[in-house]
Order: sequence, then structure tokens, then C-alpha cells
Amino acid sequence: MSAEPEKRVNSADWTMLLERARGAMGRAYAPYSGFRVGAALLATDGSVHEGCNVENASYPAGICAERSAVSAAVAAGVRSFAALSIATEAETPTPPCGICRQVLMEFAPGLAVLSVTSIGQEARWSLSDLLPEAFTPTSLRHR
Ligand code: THU
Repeated sequence: MSAEPEKRVNSADWTMLLERARGAMGRAYAPYSGFRVGAALLATDGSVHEGCNVENASYPAGICAERSAVSAAVAAGVRSFAALSIATEAETPTPPCGICRQVLMEFAPGLAVLSVTSIGQEARWSLSDLLPEAFTPTSLRHR
């Protein structure tokens, strides 16, 4: 069985993905922090999976937008991703938090990440740069 080919992410994909992330940001539930985040994951099969942060009165029970996008994708039967777009209203583009980096790494070590603010400032990273020397499924191999 051959591995799925790496999907090339073109500028139309990024534009669409950013729109989807902004839409998801509009549905964020962030009454405690007031910090709304939207995420959209482009899968290698071309499907798109959205997430937003969902906070809770018991603060640690909240979940980030990026992890909620991963959960939506996995629940839809999709586990292979090419790109992630993040939308916020922050002053500068925000990278995914450490826990989200770890969760994304499980499924997409080479993930391309774009983060954009509401006034259009953007930053790009590769997940492997955001989380070097990661603990991954192969790290669990043992005798
Ligand atoms: N948040 C995300 O959704 N993604 C991140 O990568 C960082 C933080 C959310 C969590 C919380 O609801 C709010 O932003 C403030 O931390």
C-alpha cells in the first residue's frame, strides 16, 4: 500500500480555508476570555473541517479551536491533513498553543499553518518547526 500523496496547497485553497476559519471564529463560544478563535483544517482528500474555541464555566474544561477542528475531522472519518488556517481578532497572528501542536502532530507532522488576524496580518509556519523533537506514535515503540 502506498502512502497518500502530499496535497499541494494553492492560494485558492488558502483563501477558502481562511474564509472557513473566519466563519468558525464567528461561532466561537468565548464568554470568559473574549478571545475568539476559528480554525479550518484542509484534509488530503480535499475535505475541510472547522473548529472554534468552546469555553466553559469550569475554565480548564474549555477546548481550543484547533483541537475542536481535529475532533470534527476524526469524527467524520478523516485523519490526514495538509493545511490549517487559524483566524483571530488578536493584535498579531497567533500560533497554535502547545497542546494543540501536540494533537496536530499525531496526524500531520508536515502540516502547513497559516494564522491571520481580522485586519489581515498573517504568519505561516510548518508544524514540524513549531514542535521540534516531538513525541509521536513511533516514540511509543518498545521491546
Ligand atoms: N485558544 C485557542 O482556541 N487556540 C489556541 O491555540 C490558543 C488559545 C483559545 C482558548 C481559550 O478559549 C482562548 O483562546 C484564550 O486562551
